Amino acid sequence: MQLKRWIRLKTNIFAHRGASKYAPENTMPAFQKAYHMNADGIETDVQLTKDNIPVLIHDENVKRTTNSVGLVSKLSYQELKELDAGSWFSPEFKGIKIPTLDEFLNWIKDKPLYLNIELKNNKIDYTDIESIVYQAISNYQLLNRTTISTFNPNSVKRLKEYSNSLEVAFLTSKRYKSPIRVAKELGANALHLKYRLLHRELVENIHKENMKLRIYTVNKPVRIMRSFNHQVDGIFTDVPDLAFHYRESVT
Ligand code: G3P
Ligand code: CA
Repeated sequence: MQLKRWIRLKTNIFAHRGASKYAPENTMPAFQKAYHMNADGIETDVQLTKDNIPVLIHDENVKRTTNSVGLVSKLSYQELKELDAGSWFSPEFKGIKIPTLDEFLNWIKDKPLYLNIELKNNKIDYTDIESIVYQAISNYQLLNRTTISTFNPNSVKRLKEYSNSLEVAFLTSKRYKSPIRVAKELGANALHLKYRLLHRELVENIHKENMKLRIYTVNKPVRIMRSFNHQVDGIFTDVPDLAFHYRESVT
């Protein structure tokens, strides 16, 4: 019975920072691998350089994922593109660059993939990041398969004010009494929630509001299967190949 209900509503598999178990996160090889592993979509993180170029990197500081140190917001794009964003992961990826949002959009535009662009503006509230990112996605005519998400509640509101038709997700790991109500009050179309906060009633209730629920970061088989079983709209996973395998096995 439950299986039939699940088949009715397919849970989308989003590769978290690309297929980040197999290639350095938020790089073109990680996105390419995700595509070849049959992901339905790709999740990536955007920060702005000193000269306001949107680039794909999770942390505010380049230290963890490159061969240098310093805030992205203090580096020009010219400086940033000299960095090696692959060697920290494995010598196989030596010399891989931090991609720009533009490079990513140009690559994905002719592939059947959804996009989840996360604005990393909860620690640094970058001026105009909403309009910069929106315009870039619009230029590639990708708005109809994009969700923009953010942990920053004010940014959710700004995005919806900027474009009411845009799908915007409120991201949270906080245990709100009613996360759906919080997301709805912000004007969000979707709630992107940490895995430990998932429960079945949430899925039923969010669908009554015509909103979507996606869950991060879901890597363990038992969690992948539980998310499918709860009929969430999407999961973010570092292992899209594994998630695809499990989804295939129950259809
Ligand atoms: O968008 C889901 C997830 O990526 C949010 O957390 O820290 O991995 O960006 P984080
Ligand atoms: Ca993210």
